[in-house]
Amino acid sequence: MYYKKLKDFRSDFLWGASTSAYQVEGAWNEDGKGLSVMDMGHHPEGLADFKVTSDHYHHYKEDIALLAELGLKAYRFSIAWTRIFPEGTGKINEKGLEFYKNLIDEILKYGMEPIVTQYHFDLPYALHQKGGWSNRATIDAYVDYVKVLYDNFGDRVKYWLTINEQNMMILHGAALGIVAPGTENIEKEIYQQNHHMLLAQAKAITLYHEMKLPGKIGPAPNITTIYPETCNPDDVIAAMNWTSIRNWLYLDMCVFGRYNSIAWSYLEERGWTPNIEDGDMAILGAPLAKPDFIAFNYYSTATVAASRNDGSDKAAGADQQIVSGEEGVYRQGENPSLKLTSFGWTVDPTGFRSTLREINDRYNLPLLVTENGLGEYDKLEEGDIVNDDYRIDYLRDHIEQARLAVNDGVDLLGYCPWSAIDLVSTHQGFGKRYGFIYVNREENDLKDMRRIKKKSFGWYNKVIGSNGTDL
Ligand code: BG6
Repeated sequence: MYYKKLKDFRSDFLWGASTSAYQVEGAWNEDGKGLSVMDMGHHPEGLADFKVTSDHYHHYKEDIALLAELGLKAYRFSIAWTRIFPEGTGKINEKGLEFYKNLIDEILKYGMEPIVTQYHFDLPYALHQKGGWSNRATIDAYVDYVKVLYDNFGDRVKYWLTINEQNMMILHGAALGIVAPGTENIEKEIYQQNHHMLLAQAKAITLYHEMKLPGKIGPAPNITTIYPETCNPDDVIAAMNWTSIRNWLYLDMCVFGRYNSIAWSYLEERGWTPNIEDGDMAILGAPLAKPDFIAFNYYSTATVAASRNDGSDKAAGADQQIVSGEEGVYRQGENPSLKLTSFGWTVDPTGFRSTLREINDRYNLPLLVTENGLGEYDKLEEGDIVNDDYRIDYLRDHIEQARLAVNDGVDLLGYCPWSAIDLVSTHQGFGKRYGFIYVNREENDLKDMRRIKKKSFGWYNKVIGSNGTDL
């Protein structure tokens, strides 16, 4: 659709930026923090681990002042469950609460809106050792944990996100260490874990609504449009298969309180359906479990084709954005219209618009973009200069499409690119940078951790100042 005159982003648009605790905070074992699965995970050799990261724990005042200077209206960060409950449950660590209290106060001091993710990949290791999400006790531990967050921060935090990218944890769980090594019938176990996470989320949303706190809450999966490689109807069915399994399985449950029927048939066919206990569906479908908005992360689109059914569907080198393929369901397809980033992810701003439209059409809820951005090997030049024009281009193109989506009728609450400041990538260390602020360290050399504004910093500041009209 073409528009002669464009509508503006809403006047209270949440221009933000995002981080997550284990990727930015460091201080992995300080002030009583317990270990998480990310602390105990395997790191590719030579790449940064999650122990020091950007040392935001010790630099938070300086960092928040910089984010205020950037002009942010909102800052999305996650709370490390292991700072609040070192063992995942049991005794509260007051020092952990204090850190987030100070962080939230600092954000509010500058008039920014804190957007809080309750759980971003870093399950307490103590819970993992007791079965993690395979164990229904983890559901109760999660609800107890979020109750502490609501009790302590519910008056000041107006935007809550439950679980970051549950769909990516399920589809790439091994990479995030959520399945115990040696688990038999891994997929069945993973979908059982998924069921428990869905229950935990429904309970967390219900509790939030029951407490009548003055804010909103929603899920934060990674959602993207899936294209069929051709107009061959079999490719179209393959794209629909992968869309239901990758996207709607998670959001249909969160919004409608039911399993997506196509995804469910897929699970049945493979013998991977979870065990559903009496009362589970009532929890999942409770009126108060419905989210107030949908947050989602978007980086790139996927293109798929019909399965060849000859054992050749599984592609190598898949990650959370690169599709792998599955016998009888779909296989990776080519998309000659799209370029790739240095890390092999498609760059597809128009796909961002279509993703926004698809979610809007299906759920008719306000949307919040909680991640979008470009990971690159930024270079620090002499005089503390980082010319990240490629990032400016990427973000500009996506914001343009977001504005078109607003014209299409999407109720868009805000846009929070990944990442506010350089941090450790989930799988690719510190060399893959996303921030508006450069952190002066290398993979294994911590240097002076100096904060340096990149070229994109000044550009984004101008974008925010013009409410997205001066790109
Ligand atoms: C999302 C995650 O999957 O993508 C972030 O929520 C992650 O934690 C981001 O960092 C970018 O992915 P990566 O692998 O480049 O760090």
